[in-house]
Amino acid sequence: MKKALKIILAVVALVLALAGGLIGYVAASGIPKYPPEKIDLHVEITPERVARGKRFAELLCVECHMDPHTLALTGKRLTDAPASFGPLFSKNITRDPVHGIGAWTDGELAYLLRTGVERDGSFAPIMVKLGHLSDEDLASIIAFLRSSDPLVAPRAVDPPGVSQPSLLTKLLCHVAFKPLEMPRRPIVAPPASDRVATGRYLAIGLECYPCHSADFKTMNEAAPEKSGGYFGGGNQLLDVAGRPIYSANLTADDETGIGKWSEADFVRALKKGFRPDRTVVRYPMLPSPELSDEEAGAIYAYLRTVPKIHHAFARPLPPAPVASGDEGKRLYHQYQCTSCHGEDGVGIADLRHAAEHYPTDAALENWIKNAPAIKPDTKMPAWQGVIPEADYPPLIAYVKKLGVR
Ligand code: HEC
Ligand code: HEC
Ligand code: HEC
Repeated sequence: MKKALKIILAVVALVLALAGGLIGYVAASGIPKYPPEKIDLHVEITPERVARGKRFAELLCVECHMDPHTLALTGKRLTDAPASFGPLFSKNITRDPVHGIGAWTDGELAYLLRTGVERDGSFAPIMVKLGHLSDEDLASIIAFLRSSDPLVAPRAVDPPGVSQPSLLTKLLCHVAFKPLEMPRRPIVAPPASDRVATGRYLAIGLECYPCHSADFKTMNEAAPEKSGGYFGGGNQLLDVAGRPIYSANLTADDETGIGKWSEADFVRALKKGFRPDRTVVRYPMLPSPELSDEEAGAIYAYLRTVPKIHHAFARPLPPAPVASGDEGKRLYHQYQCTSCHGEDGVGIADLRHAAEHYPTDAALENWIKNAPAIKPDTKMPAWQGVIPEADYPPLIAYVKKLGVR
């Protein structure tokens, strides 16, 4: 008996020593590095590529790289990454050669965007990896990054901080988060005439499926359709305040998915940000006005072909009505302006200077009603027809109050 106990104790001690050693090793060695491959690529910059690349960058990069204060891709703190990953910041990807990526070659950019490996061999675990986008679309993104668009024009500023990945992040990078393979064959987008194939290309290439499948931990980047709960939603994400929010089931299940939605319902939700019941689709889902109706419709057509999943997960309840003597505050919460602007008016887009940018109430009202008509690529939804006329004056008074410090 005593002997058995001794053996067990010895085994436990050994396991603990190994685990301790591993953790010590992971803590000290950090995120593994990978030798980057030299890619011979020269992207010819054409106006068509810059325009197409801008659309893709707005759909794929702005959310993580746009600082709400500079309104350029100068990097920001990623507030919706799980707190257990440690504080994370994206980088300045404007054309500045020192603070941004002005000194990167086209090949270095392509290699990072495809695999997640930077030019010095560091692995970027959080950054999207575009393993399925066509070569032409990737070239368009690179052409855009070289353009003089205000989003990427050189800005000599550093992001507001430097990432400090936690032990968990480092550990995950040793066992789960790995670079993607550099594609060995040309990737070509399907012809627009094939709606379902185009929809699949966009739903995967625009990274809809990672958020909309069951869990990032069971997603399969090499074979997306094999991801756990493919497009069945329920993936737990974080809202601007760091509270859990669950992605929606986009399969055609009638009860828990979007089986009852028409194509027009879907196109409106995706491009304009409102569901058929007129509630706003909340952050981290943002409207995609960059997509054409045909492209959004193609995604709908493709989603109808994805196996239905009946997935009744806990959808977060709409925010509890704020019992406030301030009617404007109540409305600000009721319409979920909080979803993007937070309770304090900052969130992903700072509205505390709105009264300077729109000096009259009429101008502010016009912006809130029709922002995309004023600034076509904005992610601010158009509230005309959603908010009744009588609600604008108190709502605007409250927006102005948020700006008073
Ligand atoms: C989910 C958030 C996220 C998205 C989406 C994203 N990035 Fe990043 N990006 C990061 C983070 C975070 C880093 C810093 C490396 C890291 O910690 O992973 C980074 C680093 C980079 C770098 C390296 C810069 C340097 O100086 O080291 C480039 C270039 C870049 N991103 C370009 C892009 C482009 C282009 C897109 C859109 C196609 C994009 N990123 C989309 C989060 C993101
Ligand atoms: C960063 C994660 C993320 C990405 C990327 C993303 N979504 Fe979403 N999406 C969500 C979340 C979370 C919700 C639920 C929002 C809510 O509850 O208000 C949602 C809701 C939706 C809805 C509303 C469905 C409903 O039943 O209310 C549609 C439609 C949708 N997404 C389509 C897409 C498409 C198409 C793409 C790719 C172009 C995409 N999403 C990319 C997170 C994401
Ligand atoms: C889906 C995200 C989202 C929601 C929801 C949202 N906004 Fe916005 N809003 C934005 C973005 C992004 C901007 C930055 C606009 C830009 O310059 O592109 C913005 C800008 C603004 C501005 C102008 C700020 C300035 O100084 O230029 C005001 C005012 C504003 N929003 C009010 C509201 C109100 C009121 C609500 C609720 C009824 C609301 N927003 C809901 C995303 C959102």
